[in-house]
Amino acid sequence: MALGDRVHDREELPLLQGERLVLRPVRADDARALTDVLTEPEIARWWGHNDIDSVREEMPALLVIVVDGAVTGWLHVHEETERDYPSVAFDIALTTAVHGRGYAQEALRVAIRHFIDRGHHRFTIDPAVDNERAIRCYAAVGFKPVGVLRAYERAPDGRWRDGLLMDLLAVEFDG
Ligand SMILES: CC(C)(COP(=O)(O)OP(=O)(O)OC[C@H]1O[C@@H](n2cnc3c(N)ncnc32)[C@H](O)[C@@H]1OP(=O)(O)O)[C@@H](O)C(=O)NCCC(=O)NCCS
Repeated sequence: MALGDRVHDREELPLLQGERLVLRPVRADDARALTDVLTEPEIARWWGHNDIDSVREEMPALLVIVVDGAVTGWLHVHEETERDYPSVAFDIALTTAVHGRGYAQEALRVAIRHFIDRGHHRFTIDPAVDNERAIRCYAAVGFKPVGVLRAYERAPDGRWRDGLLMDLLAVEFDG
């Protein structure tokens, strides 16, 4: 059976252990700490909805990124289990203090390994076209640019902004 043929039911998000971080299922009492991360200026410029009610709405799809016991960011996971189109889409944000130290790459690699083990064959992520740090981070994990999604997302200033669709196939993933 090929990868992608055996993903049928969406699972509860699990706890995943990395070398330097843990991805764990979100808890109700994480809402404040996650909102604090999303309202940091360097995060808020890329993230439109960052009030505590929006964070609570996203919670069912979140894994919390924990470094040294502290809530450090989140990984948003959308698992598509439709028979002929299985894939996993990610979004990620980390507190500014830890940027540039490889934590996002590690979090994505840990999650991708898990979803490959679950049978997935394809992953996507869709940063804003001018989010150079994010694009470089995802390219280092193995994501490739697919194309520009025009007027894809509403930026914090209310204007439509282009996105870059990137994808990664399990057969290309180097772990
Ligand atoms: C995007 C984000 C998750 C990346 O997290 P991170 O832990 O800093 O990423 P990593 O350290 O794993 O990788 C960053 C890469 O970008 C590079 N980089 C750092 N600053 C950069 C910059 N200003 N411009 C371009 N690349 C940059 C790093 O050198 C590294 O690449 P390398 O490994 O090839 O050297 C984090 O910056 C973030 O939370 N940003 C705000 C929210 C956001 O933009 N989320 C993405 C939504 S799709």
